[in-house]
Amino acid sequence: MNKKSSPRIGRRQFLKTTAVVGAGWLLLPSGARAGRNAPGNKLNIALIGVWGRAVQHYDSLSDENVVALCDVNENRFPDALKRFPNAKTYVDWRKCLDDHKALDLDAVVCCTPDHHHAFIANWALNRDLHCYMEKPLAISVEEARTVRANWLTKKGKLATQVGMQRHAMQNFNRVRELIRDGAIGELQAAYAWGNRQFRRDGYLPAEGRPPEGLHYDLWLGPSPFHPYNPGYFSGHRDFGCRPGSNCLQWNMYWDFGAGQIGDMGSHTMDLLWNAIDATLPTSAEAKGEKFNPDVTPVECESHFEHPANDWRGPIRVSWYQGGAMPRPPKPYVDLNKIDHGAMFKGSKGFVIADFQSRILLPFGDTADLTYYKPRTKDTALPPLGHFQRQWLDACKNPSLKTACDFEYSGNMIEQLLLGLVAYRAGKKLQYDGATGKVTNCSEANALLSRKYRDGWTLNG
Ligand SMILES: NC(=O)c1ccc[n+]([C@@H]2O[C@H](COP(=O)([O-])OP(=O)(O)OC[C@H]3O[C@@H](n4cnc5c(N)ncnc54)[C@H](O)[C@@H]3O)[C@@H](O)[C@H]2O)c1
Repeated sequence: MNKKSSPRIGRRQFLKTTAVVGAGWLLLPSGARAGRNAPGNKLNIALIGVWGRAVQHYDSLSDENVVALCDVNENRFPDALKRFPNAKTYVDWRKCLDDHKALDLDAVVCCTPDHHHAFIANWALNRDLHCYMEKPLAISVEEARTVRANWLTKKGKLATQVGMQRHAMQNFNRVRELIRDGAIGELQAAYAWGNRQFRRDGYLPAEGRPPEGLHYDLWLGPSPFHPYNPGYFSGHRDFGCRPGSNCLQWNMYWDFGAGQIGDMGSHTMDLLWNAIDATLPTSAEAKGEKFNPDVTPVECESHFEHPANDWRGPIRVSWYQGGAMPRPPKPYVDLNKIDHGAMFKGSKGFVIADFQSRILLPFGDTADLTYYKPRTKDTALPPLGHFQRQWLDACKNPSLKTACDFEYSGNMIEQLLLGLVAYRAGKKLQYDGATGKVTNCSEANALLSRKYRDGWTLNG
């Protein structure tokens, strides 16, 4: 056979072609059958940020080919290489992603600090790579919008997921069913909160020199320069300095994160967001402790107006953090006992939930529940399954949906980040979600984006 009649099918094209043949079983060129994890059907993945949160991804990634490991701290490579011995190592994610053809990359899993997230998401999408991004997806409104817009042009061709893995808990489905099926009547308002109170005063002073192997300038990346201090890397003592706790050492600084909303806010607003089918708010207002130009607020509350959709009227959505809390429906309900929770108010009662469980509180003389019919086993929403696996499956067959894709998660984080803008602007903002502009406060528009250092392109 000559070359023309038998073109060599690239591994990536092979994955795409075979993915539509049928779930689970693929027809190999030899005619032999192989399962989803047959050698020819593994994804080539770059893991960016290889320690910390990344360690939690090792097991699901070990079913695939991790072909590149990228970390600004070379001291993290030996352990990661023990798990993924065939990977090439990089210290600069821009170089790693620019090598995507040589690496024959399919997908990126990103576990870096938050100030790189939207950059890496955009760079991955612009190179036609599937992307799993640890939460939060972005730390400015502009970043959230760019990533979402990029993904919407590739929806159905690429798989995306934000690391809001609590979404796979069955309780998310049960809460959604209660709200959608009218257990509390007409939905009127929804509240989510997180009660962490870690406090920082300001950026840390210069102290010592970065250890050998840590590329501190690449760690700063697009953010303005701040001098090195080992405190950004010391792990959080409340969590035994476990891998995945170091984010609490830097995520409250404006240049490195979005504070509590980016952190637990991503998880807890998700519990609410999953039940209300919202897109973008039309207004935002917020209040909290005194503004600190270095550090995001501990205590703060933000409120958003959302337009009606096809199953509910307009609603108000609220986020509370650091001690600010919604008013309980009854004095005997102590919401403070729920560190991270959500509450839904309807015309006939309340649903109060944490991640694992929920309480239905019918309210008022007409709240007799005759209007509510619990689902049967057959009509209950099906379990999501393994959260990372859902994304890996969608990489192999991008017509499959992922729960926390860059549209769902992009809308959610845009709303929360707009709340921080309203907090800084100190007034109620009217927001046009179509253009991403505040229509009644020009100063607030300047706060929708961040300034980047030379050499770092958000949408590169
Ligand atoms: N989904 C969850 O439940 C969950 C839990 C913990 C952390 N996280 C998220 O994971 C991310 C990482 O958190 P962490 O506590 O592991 O942080 P970390 O500070 O420990 O950093 C993780 C790794 O990324 C590396 N890194 C830093 N900058 C990099 C860059 N520019 N390029 C490549 N590698 C870089 C670090 O050297 C480290 O190995 C954060 O965004 C955090 O929000 C999510």
